[in-house]
Amino acid sequence: MTKEEIEQLLQKIEDLKAQKLQDVEDIRVKFLGKKGEITKMFEEFRSVLPEQKKEFGQKLNLLKTKAAERIEVLRQGFENVQIAGCEKFDFTKPGDKFELGTRHPISLAREEILDIFGKFGYAVAEGPEIEDDWHVFTALNFPPDHPARDMQDTFFINPDSNDPILLRTHTSSVQVRTMERMPLPIRVVCPGRVFRNEAISARAHCIFHQVEGLYIDKNVSFADLKQAILLFVREMFGPDTQIRMRPSYFPFTEPSTEVDISCNICGGKGCNICKGTGWLEIMGAGMVDPNVLEASHIDSTKYTGFAFGMGIERIAMLKWQVNDLRHYFENDVRFLREFQSVI
Ligand code: PHE
Repeated sequence: MTKEEIEQLLQKIEDLKAQKLQDVEDIRVKFLGKKGEITKMFEEFRSVLPEQKKEFGQKLNLLKTKAAERIEVLRQGFENVQIAGCEKFDFTKPGDKFELGTRHPISLAREEILDIFGKFGYAVAEGPEIEDDWHVFTALNFPPDHPARDMQDTFFINPDSNDPILLRTHTSSVQVRTMERMPLPIRVVCPGRVFRNEAISARAHCIFHQVEGLYIDKNVSFADLKQAILLFVREMFGPDTQIRMRPSYFPFTEPSTEVDISCNICGGKGCNICKGTGWLEIMGAGMVDPNVLEASHIDSTKYTGFAFGMGIERIAMLKWQVNDLRHYFENDVRFLREFQSVI
């Protein structure tokens, strides 16, 4: 046995490969088994000259450790494959293509709406989905017998209690929480999921998303509301978009209005999306009712404000011409992939 032989063997062991688990065992026997090459070298070590023993001993020990390590590495390479039940897995094959997901259209629309209002100086406020009667109804001037307080319209968590807990039907509840806590002036948008006891159809769902907005300061007027909405819709739907306000009623605003935009499909001429009218409804809005300000301890003789609320599904339907609300909840990848280019 020479030093060169030991070194050559070390090199050989470093380069060893195994095709299957049995090869690893064969390698172990060949080198470290009772009659293995390395074992034999240890036997020969006995006859090494005393002055060379130290050097040979170190080299042999290194060889043995390296061989054991290499065998272990080879063996581990087959461990996972064995679990998968296929010994002949080719690790050099290219991997499976991993498809990237897309942003959901509701997230895209939500972000765009918040971005636009962000540019106008609105902060974002969020609140709980499970609410009490005060924040969803009472503080918002809903009379005791209002139909929204009925189980037909609202999901109650404890229907028999005198202290009702419910799933919020609008994110106006977050506006109440903001008025209760934040210093004036207030300028917030409140995005979130809302729940209504409605049958699911192409135009309605029991779960949907809203962005509501609130602006309270001294001298806020209806003209400010109109301007804010006009600027928003032109950013969202294009610079030629017109708005139309129809008188409406909400318990929490006075006067109240329903806002339409000129149909972005036919440009106002009339088509089947706008049902020939040239207009599409997009949100409710109005001047905050003094009762609502007072309920949150805001002096209604000094401050005025406006509020608005829109459904994100509706905005996204109009922006991308989606004709059935249910698409948003079914997560059909063919539908979701259509929004890849929007990102
Ligand atoms: N909260 C109303 C809804 O959910 C929308 C709205 C908000 C209307 C603010 C007017 C003012 O339908």
